[in-house]
Amino acid sequence: MSDPTSVTLNIGDKAVSLPVHRGSLGAPCIDIGKLAKESGHFTYDPGFMATASCRSAVTYIDGDEGVLLYRGYPIEQLAKQSSFLEVAYLLMHGELPTRTQFDAFEHEVTHHTMMHEALKTFLGGFRHDAHPMAMLCGMVGSLSAFYHDTLNLDDPEQRRLAAVRLIAKVPTIAAACYRQSIGWPIRYPRNNLEYTTRFLHMMFEVPSEPLQLKPVAAKALDLLFILHADHEQNASTSTVRLVGSTGANPYACVAAGIAALWGPAHGGANEAVLKMLEEIGRPEDVAKAVEKAKDKNSGFRLMGFGHRVYKNYDPRAAIIREMCHKVLAELGVNDPLLEVAMRLEEAALKDEYFVARKLYPNVDFYSGLIYKALGIPTEMFTVMFALARTAGWVSHWLEQQVDPEAKIGRPRQIYTGATPRDYVPFDKR
Ligand code: CMC
Repeated sequence: MSDPTSVTLNIGDKAVSLPVHRGSLGAPCIDIGKLAKESGHFTYDPGFMATASCRSAVTYIDGDEGVLLYRGYPIEQLAKQSSFLEVAYLLMHGELPTRTQFDAFEHEVTHHTMMHEALKTFLGGFRHDAHPMAMLCGMVGSLSAFYHDTLNLDDPEQRRLAAVRLIAKVPTIAAACYRQSIGWPIRYPRNNLEYTTRFLHMMFEVPSEPLQLKPVAAKALDLLFILHADHEQNASTSTVRLVGSTGANPYACVAAGIAALWGPAHGGANEAVLKMLEEIGRPEDVAKAVEKAKDKNSGFRLMGFGHRVYKNYDPRAAIIREMCHKVLAELGVNDPLLEVAMRLEEAALKDEYFVARKLYPNVDFYSGLIYKALGIPTEMFTVMFALARTAGWVSHWLEQQVDPEAKIGRPRQIYTGATPRDYVPFDKR
């Protein structure tokens, strides 16, 4: 019985027929939407290990084969031939742009990069030592206060404009958060520069002297942005969709995505990887770290290793690994942590514990070393991830807004609390 169009679930003496859906690629999905109504049973799947939450045409991952496609295009081809802004267009619109479409998109993004001056006051309210992810989350959320009244979610043009604004403004806000944290004046976006170079200028240019950038810096950053741009229904994207399902405005949705990304099990791993490599410190101490990661009582995991979906080498990690060597060489950076990282990867890939669990380096394993070589401080690593992932978040949000099957996200639970009991007044407790 291959390719069934439905399956039957027997619950006691009741047989419930459940349709099976197939996408253009990937595993078939059993539609349990009517199960509760027909059988009185819910399904239980903590962490969504086997549950598809929506139909999506944005990104496809085959975790066993190590395949990642944006709108059908292999990540390796996009990494080699495309640019982040073109990828953002592709994710949002579904097709690669013509030259005219790309020029119009680039022009529009470029002319929406300014942030409202009042946001500077807001930024100034943070303590100087606030984590930039905390600032980014608050600042992006506050965009809803600036654009809420002019946003009609039923109007496709207004939805598109909100998505463009987010792609345009998040780099400006991200750089402003960094400069606030080190006490530098905010640098306004320069429209004569392209997206990634403009961001580096907003980050590092000081009023007193021009910034000298090696072309490899913008190239490497652009590549990292492409690789981080989307990854189907990960925790932060699912958060954006969950918040989006309530009809909240897109700035609030993306702020929620930023909050979800911050955790060390998700986007915060790039920061954690660098801290881990610094703690290990020397290639000779790699073996000890591997042993510690295998010891469940140690509470230590190899950061940048393992993935919920990839049970093979993360294709993004392979590309970043190669870029890492190139960037460090071209920038003339001799970072001893690269040697620690390579030894760690080699040791883990040979170790039975990691082999048996199919734990491979993920996108975050080498990205921090590149960011470090570019002069981006560790606390900003997850902000970089958020900046790039904004392209994916808005694309999913746009897709969700026109999904005829979309409903408010509302999971059920297995209740394990007290059964009904009577209230006891204070003097009787
Ligand atoms: N180091 C040591 N052991 C690990 C690791 C690790 N990094 N990752 C998973 N394991 C073990 C885990 O202890 C478990 O062992 P056992 O079967 O004996 O109980 C087994 O592998 C399966 O792990 P899991 O936690 O059930 O797997 P998951 O799919 O729930 O978690 C993960 C995936 C990414 C959260 C996890 O691998 C992890 O914590 N990795 C380190 C953090 C990290 O690098 N996160 C970035 C993810 S990629 C970027 C992104 O998309 O955000």
